[in-house]
Amino acid sequence: MNAIIHPSQSAAQVEKDKADCISKGNIAAKFHYQTQKQTTLWLKLHKKYAPQDSLFSTYIDTAEYLATEWPHKNGSLIALGCGGGEKDIAILEKLPINTSFLATDVSEQLVLHASRRALENNKNKTLKPLVFDLATAIGLPEFIDQFVGSNRIYTFFGIIPNFPPKNILPQLKALLRPGDYLLFSANLTPNGMETILPQYDNQLTRDWLAEFPKSHGAGRGEVRVAIKSEDDLEYISASFIFQESCVMEASENLFKFYPGDSLQLFVSYRYSINSLARTLEPYGIKIEKSFQSRNGEEGVFICRL
Ligand SMILES: C[S@@+](CC[C@H](N)C(=O)[O-])C[C@H]1O[C@@H](n2cnc3c(N)ncnc32)[C@H](O)[C@@H]1O
Repeated sequence: MNAIIHPSQSAAQVEKDKADCISKGNIAAKFHYQTQKQTTLWLKLHKKYAPQDSLFSTYIDTAEYLATEWPHKNGSLIALGCGGGEKDIAILEKLPINTSFLATDVSEQLVLHASRRALENNKNKTLKPLVFDLATAIGLPEFIDQFVGSNRIYTFFGIIPNFPPKNILPQLKALLRPGDYLLFSANLTPNGMETILPQYDNQLTRDWLAEFPKSHGAGRGEVRVAIKSEDDLEYISASFIFQESCVMEASENLFKFYPGDSLQLFVSYRYSINSLARTLEPYGIKIEKSFQSRNGEEGVFICRL
């Protein structure tokens, strides 16, 4: 099986995006999942700070509810930013056997991995996976329409925290049609931001996030993690603070940094059910049903236009 690559993730475009991010001092989430080393560091971190068992049951509860509401025998499940695809495939398993599965992500490696997993585990039809940048791809609805039929369930797990809402929700809205479902997960803060800070303010997170600046020419520096807020939403921010002068390189451009300069590497926005509903409202996306993990730190939401 091979993947179909949208122009937003062509090698040349990715290099251009990278240079753009460095020049703006703000690194897009997709650049932390690019290399084998980054993926290994992320998986290590994920294993330690996201205990699988209790979280996974929230996804199963969501799938069981959805299966009772979903009227189509031959619809499609489109996994946006599928990663390894575990959660999306767990949902697929509860849907009618003729539901097609489409894996999508910025990473070709990950969509192929998720598609292989779907092929092994299910009798469902697994479509050729798609690689695109959900935040920047132009003409995405038309692109997807070439490969998938109507009656769609989109899954969007673990991604909304890593974008300022205005940078991702317009793209998501453009994909949805009346009758489609959108399932997404968001990190919640039932006990305040301070209590979740240790999940980010740790060496494993620093090692993972520092990999991008280090592999693009940054010298000595420190990853600093802090709580910030914007438009009533709080988020965790991690920045690389340069401790020595250096030159970073991308797309044949050179970028000079000096001690004290900073590069934003990562954001994780946190929501409550109310702030999430408020954030989605301007885009016409409504939460129909919500499920929460036992510790209250993860919510899975069934939404429609
Ligand atoms: C935190 S992981 C979540 C993976 C999986 N959905 C899960 O919940 O386990 C974020 C995923 O989003 C993908 N991603 C990051 N930026 C993206 C973008 N702009 N467009 C599409 N996928 C993106 C990454 O490659 C990664 O697989």
